[in-house]
Formats: sequence, C-alpha cells, structure tokens
Amino acid sequence: MHYTEKLKNVSVLGAAGKMGSGILLLTAQELLHQKLQHENKNQQFVLNAIDVSHNALDGLLKYVRAQAQKFAEKKIVQIRKMYADQKQLHENADFIQKYVEDVVDIIKPTTRIEAAYDSNLILEAVSENPDLKNKIFRQISSNNNNNPWFFTNTSSIPIHEIDTNANLNGRLMGVHFYNPPAVQKLVELIKSEQTLPELAEFATQYVKNLKKIIVPSADVAGFIGNGHYMRDTINGIDLAIKLNLKIPLPQAIATVDTITRDYLVRPMGIFQLADYVGIDVVQYIMKVMHDRGIDDNLQSDLLDKLVESGIKGGQNSDGSQKDGFFRYEKGRPVAVINPETMQYANLNTLSSKVDTYLGEKPEGAVKWKSLLKATDKEDQLRNWFNTLKNDSSKGSELAMEYLQKSKNAALQLVKDGVAANEEDVNTVLMTGFFHAYGPANDFMN
Ligand SMILES: NC(=O)c1ccc[n+]([C@@H]2O[C@H](COP(=O)([O-])OP(=O)(O)OC[C@H]3O[C@@H](n4cnc5c(N)ncnc54)[C@H](O)[C@@H]3O)[C@@H](O)[C@H]2O)c1
Repeated sequence: MHYTEKLKNVSVLGAAGKMGSGILLLTAQELLHQKLQHENKNQQFVLNAIDVSHNALDGLLKYVRAQAQKFAEKKIVQIRKMYADQKQLHENADFIQKYVEDVVDIIKPTTRIEAAYDSNLILEAVSENPDLKNKIFRQISSNNNNNPWFFTNTSSIPIHEIDTNANLNGRLMGVHFYNPPAVQKLVELIKSEQTLPELAEFATQYVKNLKKIIVPSADVAGFIGNGHYMRDTINGIDLAIKLNLKIPLPQAIATVDTITRDYLVRPMGIFQLADYVGIDVVQYIMKVMHDRGIDDNLQSDLLDKLVESGIKGGQNSDGSQKDGFFRYEKGRPVAVINPETMQYANLNTLSSKVDTYLGEKPEGAVKWKSLLKATDKEDQLRNWFNTLKNDSSKGSELAMEYLQKSKNAALQLVKDGVAANEEDVNTVLMTGFFHAYGPANDFMN
C-alpha cells in the first residue's frame, strides 16, 4: 500500500499521555500535509486519539491547538505555501487559524479501542507494561481486517518479544521518540528480525517527513539511549556508594550530582536526571535490561529502597517536580535525601561540605548552556578536560573517572552491536539527552 494510503486511517494509543500527545500532534500535522497535496485534495484522513483517561482526553485538543498555533506562527512561510490555492486567506492570522483548525479537525478523540479496528497504522504509546502492550496489540490485530502496521514507543522492551507475544508476524516496528516528541529531534528506529522490510521503509519515510534525526538501534532491551543512560546512572550510584565509605550518603549523592553536572558540563546531574525521568521508570528499565542478560550490574538496592518507600520522582500534573533524590523548589533542588532515614537534608547547609570535599575547582570551567551555541565548542571542551586531567583535586579526579566510565558504556554498545558505530551513540546522547558532547570522545587521552 502506498505511503499516503496507509495514513488515511491512523490510531494513536495512549494519545493523552506525555509521549502519545506529542506523537498525535506530529502525526496530525503529517496527515494534514498529505491531505493538502494536490492529488489527495478530496480524500478523507482520520486520526483516532485513543486513551482510557476521559479527563486527559479533554485537555488534549487544547494542547494540540496551542502547539499547532506555535508551529504555524514559526513556519508561516511554509504554511502560506501549503494553502497557496485558498484565495480567501489573506493575512498571516487567517492562514494560522486555518492550519490550526485543519490539524484539530483530523483528530477524533475517543476512549474506545474499537476505533482502531479500521486503522491501517497504529502508533502505540501506552504505559511501559509489556502485558498491556501485548494485550492491546492482540485485540486490535484480531479484530482489524486491514492487516495493519504497528509502531511501538517502548523505551526498553525488545520489539521481537512484543511481536511474538502479540502474534503480529513482523507487522511491528520500534519508533522511539524522545520526550517531548514535538521538540526533541531524535527518533531511534528499531527493526526486529521479523519486521517486514516495507514497514521499516514506511517508518523511515514517516520519521523523515517529521524532520527528525534518525538513529537505528539493534533490537536489544534499552536500545541505544537507555543502554547508555542506565549504565551512566549505575556508575553514578556506584560512585556515591563508594564515596559513602568516607562521607555521609546525602553528601555523596550531592557530590556526584555536582560532578556530573558542573565538571562534566551536562544540563543536569545524574541524580536530578533520575528524578526528572522518574526513579521508578529508571528502576523498571534497568530490570527489563537486567532480566534479559544485557548487563548484570543494572540493579540497585538504593533505587529499590527509594521506590519501595514511595519516593519516585517524576512530575505533578502542573509540571512541577516531585520529590526524588532531591526535593525541589521552583524547579531547583533545595534538599537531598538521606536514604537511611528518608529525610531530606538542606542543600545550602551541605554545599560547603561538598565544595570542601571536591577541593578547589580549576579555573576555566565551561558552562553547558554557553557551550551549546559556541563555535569553538570542541576547543573549549578539550581545554577544560585537559585542565581536569592535570589537576590533582578530588573533583577533577572523580570527573575524569566518570568520563572514562561513560565512554566505556558507549564503546560497550558498539561492541555489543546495539549501535552501528560510536557516532550513533554520540548522536543519541547529544540530541536525545542534550549533552554538549558525545560519550565516545578522546578528551581523557
Ligand atoms: N516519558 C518519557 O520520557 C518517555 C520517553 C520515550 C519513550 N517513552 C515510552 O512511551 C510510552 C508512554 O510513556 P509516557 O511517559 O507517555 O506515559 P504516560 O503515563 O504519560 O501515558 C500513557 C497513556 O496511556 C494511557 N493508557 C493506559 N492504558 C491504556 C489503554 N489500555 N488504552 C489506551 N490508553 C491507555 C494512559 O491513560 C496515559 O494517558 C511508554 O512505553 C514509555 O516507556 C516514554
């Protein structure tokens, strides 16, 4: 079936979730784009937004409307071209309004999974639960006579497992968007051994049309992004536990977070990132990888203890950050957990101890934000890591040790055939995790 034909009836499952809502928006835009092509002018395009949550579906169209408006304002030249034959539109505002209405018109919100029984393509972004995913795929597949194709947004579960368990016979492809899909440029594409070649071709075309950066990953639990991130997190936890032989655990956690943010020039420290992603999500993905023999180290009593105590990080419905390794005020960490008592210790009070332990930070530290726009980024990084290498403070020593471990994790992914090459791992970390440089580098040489 031709690319456009496949897109005439599409369903997004979990459409009101964090990922589903973004995937829905992008897909609605792509459907509209196809619909506006001359040869498709009078064709019907339908996009079912399926979610079990009535409440969440209520807010969904508001989100789509606001995002479509933002997009149209930014890309007004492109939008005017798309509607060039609509002579009744004159002002930019007319074009923007028309575009927003057309995007929203394509979407049919519903709580009924039966809506997907007529679809040719189903994009799944329900919770990371293999049983749930298998059940939904099986139900749709056995009630849909179109032999539909499926995309899954799973972050960790091997595609061949879902394909086999749901009896999809190669009609499944991993299309792994990053959060939030409307903004993040990266999409990992995961073909299983069963995946039909024409589906893989279609998925590539679809993601290209969304103007995303594609990195192929082998069908190995965790793929490239989490394959690296989970190991990086374990390295952070292991380091904190090692430092805890000399300093209290809250101080050790704050120290490792400072090193991974300020010394390694990253947007946030490794423990703050775990809070952002969700400690329970990190724990779950590690378990999926660990259970499949990907890496025996991917297990942490500390994470288990926090989750068991109900400390899971993640966000409240207003977007504010929940308690995790840190407690937050206005989005900034203000206290750090003591996992022995589950009480939080004030970071202000601790920070001088952290600084004393790390020793004097060398001159010439580069800042993550300013690096992103710098034209001499590579030189600045090289100078900075050279300085750390030749500095004898505890902070510099720990930073270089961590940098090496992060590199090892990248090389492991290439060695295991998860990533085709080091460049792909670097692209994933730089585009999916906003790192200023890739982990496969020679900064410590
Ligand atoms: N959040 C991330 O950073 C991120 C990044 C990449 C991939 N992912 C993956 O994307 C998927 C979704 O994650 P999320 O963070 O958007 O989760 P989420 O909890 O925000 O959204 C899941 C949505 O699925 C809905 N849902 C649950 N059961 C359903 C059912 N039976 N039928 C229809 N809808 C149902 C829920 O109501 C919810 O709206 C997961 O597989 C996750 O691993 C998440």
